[in-house]
Amino acid sequence: MAAMVYPVGTVTNALGHLEIGGCDVVDLREEFGTPAYIFSVEEMRRRAMAYQSAFAAHTDNFEVLFASKALPVTAAYRLFAETGLSVDVASGGELTIALAAGYAPERIYMHGNNKTDAELELASNAGVGHLIVDSFDEIDRCERVLKEEQDVLIRVTPGIKPSTHTYIQTGQLDSKFGFGLEDGTAAKAIERVLASDRLNLVGLHFHIGSQIFEIEPFRLAVEALAGLRGDWCRIVDLGGGLGISYAEADEPPEIASYVDLKIASVREFFGDDVRILIEPGRSLVGTAGVTIYTVGTIKEIPGIRTYLSVDGGMSDNLRPMLYDAEYEAIIANRAGDPAERVVTVAGSHCESGDILIRDVTLANPQVGDILLTPATGAYGHSMANNYNGMPRPPVVFCENGEARVVVRRETYEDLLVRDV
Ligand code: LLP
Repeated sequence: MAAMVYPVGTVTNALGHLEIGGCDVVDLREEFGTPAYIFSVEEMRRRAMAYQSAFAAHTDNFEVLFASKALPVTAAYRLFAETGLSVDVASGGELTIALAAGYAPERIYMHGNNKTDAELELASNAGVGHLIVDSFDEIDRCERVLKEEQDVLIRVTPGIKPSTHTYIQTGQLDSKFGFGLEDGTAAKAIERVLASDRLNLVGLHFHIGSQIFEIEPFRLAVEALAGLRGDWCRIVDLGGGLGISYAEADEPPEIASYVDLKIASVREFFGDDVRILIEPGRSLVGTAGVTIYTVGTIKEIPGIRTYLSVDGGMSDNLRPMLYDAEYEAIIANRAGDPAERVVTVAGSHCESGDILIRDVTLANPQVGDILLTPATGAYGHSMANNYNGMPRPPVVFCENGEARVVVRRETYEDLLVRDV
């Protein structure tokens, strides 16, 4: 069991069962069934505090925003609100959940490359603190829809490409997001917003991508943006993107060194007085969450491969199919047993591509065992779907040996509820 991949405090107990947040996974399965997303509250809180204290060591002019797309669950918004984080929402839906969770509207930052009239109205009526403006059409729409003056940041694509999967690179000129730097549209957007009587320009934003291990691209992006700055620029928002360990060999930078570099870059290129914002998603919740499944069938094709099928798959974790993401796994009810059998973990969907993990070594798996995949806390629940009529799993928060369901399992009745 690799320490970095699992939530803090994960142990194998005397029965050989894995414990997450002090809860025995065998008991968790008994109580909540499988598949289920299990979270360590301590890990989430610890990571939020790591961000907060990394900033506080240098400045009090900062805000850490929970990028809620990673885990848009009311209880997660509440938890991060309690630890002093602001929040980034990317749609009317995420905004609705953030408000329902009790987020103060002035702590909400709203993104989106195609915010609709209805979303802008919702944001404006709620009193959302800041919009991150993404296009000229949106500027026109804001002027038409917004009733009151609105503080905004402008999203810029700085022309920096970090090394990560192309689907999650967002800082390059050829992107659907934001205003280009190289082609001069960012400068034009600034002029346009400064001339607006409805929009009040207060800062700049970039987000260059996700699951990033190098920190230098963030410095380059800040440097690239510096040519745009003006007296109006009181806020620089450097987006999210810090990677996490999905496998033992992954070595992402520490939160503190990532934050230090971001602060130093802003100080160097924008001076001491601007407010620094960052928007972590994955690095707050990714390693805090694991998914538990029950092994249902084991099919051995001699000389070729052994397929081990679990009771979930691409409906609860799309990342292997979308990004070729790689995961580890463990037989969690026999966590102390040596891993010696190589299998391919498949889901239960009607597709050959429904493979969660290729070639993982497990402790002689048996039908009925609990298969646990770590580091599934980010973008698992949020990208879950009902393919093949699969009800979405519950979200369970564990802390000090207490487990509570914060999102219940979907039922077959839920699948019929929207029929008219
Ligand atoms: N800010 C903005 C404007 C973003 O678009 C994102 C993520 C974040 C912050 C948070 O980034 P993070 O800290 O989580 O890297 N579904 C993909 C990830 C897509 C990320 C989209 N934007 C995945 O599962 O890898």
